[in-house]
Amino acid sequence: MPQQYFTSIFHYYALNGAYQVEKKIMVHQECINCKTQYGIDEIVYFCPKCGDILEIKFDIKELAQTLKHSDWKTKPLSVWRYRDFMPIHEASQIVTLNEGGTGLHRSQRLGDELGLKEVYVKNEGENPTGSFKDRGMTVGVTKAVELGARHVICASTGNTSASLAAYAARAGLKCTVLIPSGHIAYGKLAQAMIHGAKVLQVKGNFDQALEFVLKLAEKHKSIYLLNSINPFRIEGQKSLGFEICEQLNYQPPDRIIIPVGNAGNISAVWKGLKEFNQLGFIKTLPKMTGIQAEGSAPIAQAIKSNSDKIIPVTNPETVATAIRIGAPVSWKKAVNAIHESHGTAETVTDDEILAAQKMLARVEGIFVEPASASSIAGLMKLVKNGVIGKDERVVCITTGHGLKDPDIAIKQCEKPVEVEANMFAIEQALGLKQQRVILAR
Ligand code: F0G
Repeated sequence: MPQQYFTSIFHYYALNGAYQVEKKIMVHQECINCKTQYGIDEIVYFCPKCGDILEIKFDIKELAQTLKHSDWKTKPLSVWRYRDFMPIHEASQIVTLNEGGTGLHRSQRLGDELGLKEVYVKNEGENPTGSFKDRGMTVGVTKAVELGARHVICASTGNTSASLAAYAARAGLKCTVLIPSGHIAYGKLAQAMIHGAKVLQVKGNFDQALEFVLKLAEKHKSIYLLNSINPFRIEGQKSLGFEICEQLNYQPPDRIIIPVGNAGNISAVWKGLKEFNQLGFIKTLPKMTGIQAEGSAPIAQAIKSNSDKIIPVTNPETVATAIRIGAPVSWKKAVNAIHESHGTAETVTDDEILAAQKMLARVEGIFVEPASASSIAGLMKLVKNGVIGKDERVVCITTGHGLKDPDIAIKQCEKPVEVEANMFAIEQALGLKQQRVILAR
């Protein structure tokens, strides 16, 4: 018989001046395939019965009751505003750097360029370590602390390692990261190193690095795995979906466009949207639209060919190194999200990605890394193809800050002009006419 597990959420909160005990909520981990349930304090990454991945499930009615008596709406926009939605026992152990609460920028000039009425950019580069990963890491590392882990690990194309290194440092945990040799942006590497992680550069790609960390976590039970296969990370990342709804006054957009790599984020955003819908906070659900780089697009290819299975790409290639992934571990969740939401997936070329990156920086003042710009490139392509209508309200998620990968930005811009340190040379370089200055007495 499947077991149910309670979280022991017994933290107190103030309501009308009086302190009350928060209600317990039923929550468990569940296999997305065979639906076998596991407790939230069991360390399982794949279902021992069928080998598929897990997700966190709440009793939504209990959650609704808890929310009725909670002061969550008085909290600032952030991951922990949604503390009631998080499978964490005690508030006192939370490991945070103030993540979430990122800007949802109405992007009029981008919209005008594309002939769209209402476009927004949800800029996740505004998170503490400069990417959306912090939303998942605050919850994942808090869970690690709760479980008594002393050593955390991940494989990464860069941002996950930067984020895990920072949160592990904050919690005083040992941190190991495996990154693909030669294919990681410098800013991200610098972050993992300065936060004191043990960095292993694997002579292979991300998919191979992930295989190794999965094996390590399986073999050495003292090492806690924090890739997005860990469902606690997905719980943190679902707050991205909540925030978009709240920032739009509970009128969700028609479509959310999101870069896809290992496919955790699109699954997380969709999970958040569905929970808000089940709770009655939103009445409609956006079409989830995943964008992949042409050279590493197994999910987009599966959607385009109407297949329910992906064919992994053995040698993924793209300038957007963050999404240079050939065998996304959460592909099933992503394909489900796209199908359930009547969304779609598209591929974009490296040139399209770089052009979108430059355009966003120049028309909206938002500097994002190449992988993030793929959502903008995808928007441009889907508008051009007529898939996105001119009246659609669209939110593009930009996942990481442009400074993560300054080399790429510098390469595609005009070089700075070197000038002598005098007014004449500076005016000449600026094409300004020489004028005699008459000083007033
Ligand atoms: N955008 C950026 C900037 C990323 O770093 C990633 C993933 C994605 C998009 C894709 O998100 O994997 O949830 O589909 N980066 C991971 C990493 C793989 O290791 O930093 P996803």
